[in-house]
Amino acid sequence: MTATVFDSKKPEFVMRIAVLAETDKAEPRVAATPETVKKFIALGAEVAVQAGAGAGAGVSDADYAAAGALIGPDPATTLAGADIALRVRRPAAAEIAGAKPNLAVISIMDPFGNEAALADLAKAGAIAFAMEFMPRITRAQSMDVLSSQANLAGYRAVIDAAAEYGRSFPMMMTAAGTVPAAKVFIMGVGVAGLQAIATAKRLGAIVTATDVRPATKEQVESLGAKFLAVENEEFQQAQTAGGYAKEMSREYQAAQAELTASHIAKQDVVITTALIPGRPAPKLISADMVHSMRNGSVIVDLAAERGGNCELTKPGETSVVNGVKIVGALNLPGRMASTASSLYAKNLLAFVETMISKETKQLAINWDDELIKATALTRDGAVTDERFKKA
Ligand code: NAI
Repeated sequence: MTATVFDSKKPEFVMRIAVLAETDKAEPRVAATPETVKKFIALGAEVAVQAGAGAGAGVSDADYAAAGALIGPDPATTLAGADIALRVRRPAAAEIAGAKPNLAVISIMDPFGNEAALADLAKAGAIAFAMEFMPRITRAQSMDVLSSQANLAGYRAVIDAAAEYGRSFPMMMTAAGTVPAAKVFIMGVGVAGLQAIATAKRLGAIVTATDVRPATKEQVESLGAKFLAVENEEFQQAQTAGGYAKEMSREYQAAQAELTASHIAKQDVVITTALIPGRPAPKLISADMVHSMRNGSVIVDLAAERGGNCELTKPGETSVVNGVKIVGALNLPGRMASTASSLYAKNLLAFVETMISKETKQLAINWDDELIKATALTRDGAVTDERFKKA
């Protein structure tokens, strides 16, 4: 039998939650905090945390132990006997080898383009829940990892832009002369874009923003920024029932490029956040547009992970083209690992709470619940979500 850290004297029905360390070196976040560990224990669960799991987010094993967690030396020991495994990123099938059948693995699953890895996880017996597919309904707001993490990314993008920009964000009137305010343009006004607007405004910049969804116009204006977009018939129809953007037609994209080209040429900082679910990021800034910007300008491309909104973005790198810095930011929430982990961990806690029976305190997945239906990707050894079956 595999060694386990869970208390073997406790009855079999006690719910056991394992918090695994991330294996991706570029991922400093962690899926539980001492605060959420305490809450899980108060719900009647036993919690095991893999040694070192919180190191990147400033949480020590001793902090977890003080909150009541058991510390497992490695993934296998931490997982043995667990009903639920929590992670930031999808674990590989090999990492959950030896776990109980029907282990609920809850993480950001990133399944698009990773169908084979998802199928392996299914074959290993896991029920994989993708937190990023949480429906954006009132009941699930506290479980919305896209929002909790994108909000921080939007903030951090502006802070990074200010750090890279060799001039001032606010206007300053000094005895030695007046310094003009920076002009900041935000492209894509979802959760990240709205926080980027608010942050740039607080730093004193002159802020404009664009999006293809008509609902964003009022949101931009309510933050005191100016809205700029091609507001034709297609724009009026650009929002899906789920609140996301559609991929726009070639004609729309051409009109959008024409409108934004002259605007971008006058900007000091451009922050791009435009995404379309399940599609590569739309290209909004061409090489010509980069060349039109003045020396010392900065572009922060939050869509770098999905191919980038700027044609010249190099994911994970900061490049300089014609004096313009292009920041291909990856995992910006990870750059605020402590805050990002505490919000992510709370999102997971809120979701797990819905899976625990109030009477028996055991894991009781209600397969009719819309949150389960939307997030569960595998079951009984197979991928169940139609979109990812073609392994
Ligand atoms: P996202 O990360 O998918 O996309 C970011 C932004 O890029 C979106 O505003 C999108 O319209 C924009 N975009 C896409 N293509 C573009 C293009 N070609 N040009 C310019 N902009 C483009 O979006 P996010 O942040 O996930 O928000 C999606 C929706 O979800 C929004 O309607 C938001 O209000 C809603 N939401 C609802 C919540 C709730 O009800 N619980 C919580 C959070 C967000």
